[in-house]
Amino acid sequence: MIARGLVQGGAHVVITSRKEEQCRATAEAINAGADAAGTTGRCTPVASDLSSAEGVTGLVDWLGEHLTSIDILVNNAGATWGAPLEEFPLIGWTKVLNTNLVAPFYLITGTLPLLRNAARPDRPAHVINIGSVDALTTPSWENYSYSASKAGLHMVTRHLAKQLASDSITVNAIAPGPVLTDMLGHVAADPEVEAELVGRVPLGRYGQTDDLIGTVRFLASRAGSYLTGTIIPLDGGISGCAG
Ligand SMILES: NC(=O)c1ccc[n+]([C@@H]2O[C@H](COP(=O)([O-])OP(=O)(O)OC[C@H]3O[C@@H](n4cnc5c(N)ncnc54)[C@H](OP(=O)(O)O)[C@@H]3O)[C@@H](O)[C@H]2O)c1
Repeated sequence: MIARGLVQGGAHVVITSRKEEQCRATAEAINAGADAAGTTGRCTPVASDLSSAEGVTGLVDWLGEHLTSIDILVNNAGATWGAPLEEFPLIGWTKVLNTNLVAPFYLITGTLPLLRNAARPDRPAHVINIGSVDALTTPSWENYSYSASKAGLHMVTRHLAKQLASDSITVNAIAPGPVLTDMLGHVAADPEVEAELVGRVPLGRYGQTDDLIGTVRFLASRAGSYLTGTIIPLDGGISGCAG
């Protein structure tokens, strides 16, 4: 959704994911949409496994070899794990923390030279981290490492915003509520669970493509250039209307 929105706005977007074939097919679909719309935006796929240090380094090296600057870094790749409290396995912590928290940190530090090359005081470079409403309110399901990883990412956002402000790099996070992606496939498969989930959203629906794209475009635009260190709750009111 986010990559498509940025490409439609004319950006050259590099996307990554572990599954090379799906990554390439997604880029081709995005490029076909850009061609049909007559925009100059482009999408380039680069497969990597961000849950490993080697995967993060490989992507950072590729970016350094192929680009001279980066205007917008979106840390979107994420993983979750659900298990009953007393059975929650260690791998459910390491995989989720590495993907959701450690990788975004090292992608930011690894791409700093490229972000600095794009940054100007009147037109900052932008880091946008995809957090979660599950780090703003206590989740109702047993995804302990996920909520903790996203809370960590929210704090990394604020900490690096302070650190990088003098470099004219803004660092913000979007904390989405439920969005119907593969991550929520198990919810959509059970009408009762889905009704319960959507029923917890005051605006009574899933987050949709336009919600995500509009918020990312705002943060990455001149209009969003005076925001840094913010966590935007894009959650249909779950956190704002709580209590
Ligand atoms: N959907 C929601 O309701 C919701 C709500 C709040 C926040 N979020 C956040 O939104 C972001 C996107 O999630 P989504 O809903 O689109 O989930 P998704 O459908 O499961 O997609 C996750 C994406 O991350 C990639 N990915 C996972 N592990 C990776 C790894 N180790 N290395 C590289 N890429 C990896 C996946 O591709 P491969 O499998 O090919 O690697 C896929 O493209 C995540 O950060 C998620 O936590 C989602």
